[in-house]
Amino acid sequence: MAVRSGRHARSGPRDEEVGTPHVPAIDLSTTYGFQSSASIAESMDDLLEGAFTAPNPVYARLHNPTVAGFEEALALLEGAEAAVAFSTGMAAISATIMATATPEDGAPRRHVVAVRPLYGGTDHLLSAGVLGSEVSWARPADIGSAIRADSGLVLLETPANPTLTMVDIRSVVRQAREASRSLGHPVAVAVDSTFATPVLQNPLALGADLVLHSATKFLGGHGDAMGGVVACSDGLAKRLRQIRMMTGGILHPLAGYLLHRGLQTLPLRVRAQQESARILAARLSTHPEVRSVHFPGLADDPVERRLLSTQQRGPGSVLSFRVRGGPGQATRVVESLGLITRAVSLGSVDTLVQAPAQLTHRVVEATDRAASGVPDDLLRLSVGLEDVDDLWQDLDQALTGANRSAA
Ligand SMILES: Cc1ncc(COP(=O)(O)O)c(C=O)c1O
Repeated sequence: MAVRSGRHARSGPRDEEVGTPHVPAIDLSTTYGFQSSASIAESMDDLLEGAFTAPNPVYARLHNPTVAGFEEALALLEGAEAAVAFSTGMAAISATIMATATPEDGAPRRHVVAVRPLYGGTDHLLSAGVLGSEVSWARPADIGSAIRADSGLVLLETPANPTLTMVDIRSVVRQAREASRSLGHPVAVAVDSTFATPVLQNPLALGADLVLHSATKFLGGHGDAMGGVVACSDGLAKRLRQIRMMTGGILHPLAGYLLHRGLQTLPLRVRAQQESARILAARLSTHPEVRSVHFPGLADDPVERRLLSTQQRGPGSVLSFRVRGGPGQATRVVESLGLITRAVSLGSVDTLVQAPAQLTHRVVEATDRAASGVPDDLLRLSVGLEDVDDLWQDLDQALTGANRSAA
């Protein structure tokens, strides 16, 4: 499937209209003036009901035109009716949990079925239950039996952070639909597709109800803007906007501008970073100091191999690997790197490395971490746009040198 660039997916006036700006404007206003009390009240009513826009935006927590441009572009890339942007990926996930737990059309459904591993912050949010939700962890094949009468949401990541495990979205959707039919109410399936981006995967086309992104990662792509976004139906988007308005997790317009601009180079970045990741994953898998490599392109599992061609359009550019010699050795490798940046986050033009057990998944109980395939000696590498041979040289010297210093 051809993927449009963010430029083509952008909203607003078209270039060919003489005198219109070529790039979207940044609207920083927090409030909007009015003359007629009756007409601004009408706009307020529209926005309170969750409308995408209104003749008067009223107040920046209700609507912002710059953010709306990013939302329209992302909805196009995901093949969605709508998208709703948030201040961070975690704000987007929180709003999804709240929106599906408190439908306007029925009793609260606070039970969430989730598949591990998930990003540590999401795992923590669900385990802590601070939003009033209750979680059941299930294997992808057992989703149907984990759904209860009070379930409102099934949440998964594919490929998952940090093991790159791929989950069969169609199979999860089938189970959720079957359970919904017998319960008589919808159980929404939300897929965190941060690692794949809309360039490599479109979960809505596979039947999912919501697709989530930490826009902080690939969508922005340069490590300088935080954001989150959910693409879904108009109906779910209305509820998400109401939740966003009530809880305040809005995206700042400057970040909205940067994320929208990031979409313009997204396909190019994803493909270039993916090519380097393929090369590094292959070289790491034969390195004597490496125990195993997790990368969709190297998956042995027949189901995952099938998903790579039927569900995704490429393996992406994040991989993880275990080093020989245990967690101490993994730390030495990380600390011996020269070119590669030691930092959390991913999806940036700069290659980033970190040990999930120490940082991104530190908040997950050690036993749960181990059970979901996140050992202490695992390193996660998000491959950027540097020269691939320079990256390999850095990895190789760190792996080999760290072994020498341990000896
Ligand atoms: C897969 C995934 N989802 C969600 C998040 C949370 O996003 P944010 O840090 O933008 O809140 C992250 C962060 O690393 C992530 O990796």
